[in-house]
Amino acid sequence: MSDLDKINSIFNAKIDSVKTKIDLQNIKTEFFGKNGQITQQFKKLGSLDQNKRKEFASNLNKIKDDLTTQIEQKNLEIENFEINEKLKNEKVDITLPARTYQKGKIHPVSQVIDEITSIFSELGFTVAEGPDVETEYNNFTALNTPEDHPARDMHDTFYLEKNKKLLLRTHTSPVQIRAMLSGKPPFKIIVPGRTYRCDSDQTHAPMFHQLEGLHIDKKITMGHLKGCLDYFIKEFFEVKNIKMRFRPSHFPFTEPSAEVDIGYKIENEKIVIGEGDKWLEILGCGMVHPNVLINAKVNPKKYQGFAFGMGIDRLAMLKYGINDLRAFFETDFRWLNHFGFDPLDVPTNYRGLSK
Ligand code: PHE
Repeated sequence: MSDLDKINSIFNAKIDSVKTKIDLQNIKTEFFGKNGQITQQFKKLGSLDQNKRKEFASNLNKIKDDLTTQIEQKNLEIENFEINEKLKNEKVDITLPARTYQKGKIHPVSQVIDEITSIFSELGFTVAEGPDVETEYNNFTALNTPEDHPARDMHDTFYLEKNKKLLLRTHTSPVQIRAMLSGKPPFKIIVPGRTYRCDSDQTHAPMFHQLEGLHIDKKITMGHLKGCLDYFIKEFFEVKNIKMRFRPSHFPFTEPSAEVDIGYKIENEKIVIGEGDKWLEILGCGMVHPNVLINAKVNPKKYQGFAFGMGIDRLAMLKYGINDLRAFFETDFRWLNHFGFDPLDVPTNYRGLSK
């Protein structure tokens, strides 16, 4: 038997027992690898004399082609086998009853935070956050709030310590200080979050939500503040013509300060936002007081800007016709099922106004 016939019969004996891709890889190496049996034969070619070489080469090539084809076929066989095994094991019984699942609802407060964030992000604001437990300094002192201001009283504020150094923040304004201290101007942020005051009735809860806005840059004026809030209110309430007025007010951390009211009327016992001769207060705002900028290490001779703060829960109540604030936080599933939002629903057409 010639060398080539021997190789051929060894190969044939082995290929039959191949079951896996690893076996196949081993055979490939044994015959076609660097020191493989076929490779060795090719190396011999050079030492044969001319007339023998031609015949040997043609036999060798034939065997090489034959073995290669067999390896390829085996590879296909193995792949088919693996697919069939997989199909067998992953069979789906379509006669089984469907699994039930419970779909949750999005709380109106979360929904409204998403809506407001989306509107302000169109104006270039980014979202910042701060902790619920604040220092007395960030919550009051840095915000230019005097020692004898009523908000500092135990009746209004939850203090965590007797020495009054830590408290539950009474507004989102301390995040103004945090944001400015941790970055460089310009600043253009909104801050949604929980806030706390000693208060509880139909329209006040001890914990509620606010959204702060802060825009500090070199040439920011009250005109920008008005334009920004006008855009926001129309987009949020989805009303093209909405009456809005700035009423002079006072906050220690803004000068001048204003409260913003929007017009409304009652029609068929329902509130209609936009027109009418009644006014509803929805937020506080103003130009950031120079003392606040100094406390936050911003040069008031170079930079100025506006801030505003609104009650998120109140906006949610107004927009979605909910009249008792306390129900927001009672985790009653019947209430949530009624007032909540489906996760995949696009809320009405609320982004359609500016388009
Ligand atoms: N922090 C104020 C409040 O809680 C609202 C406000 C924020 C007013 C920013 C002016 C500027 O009532």
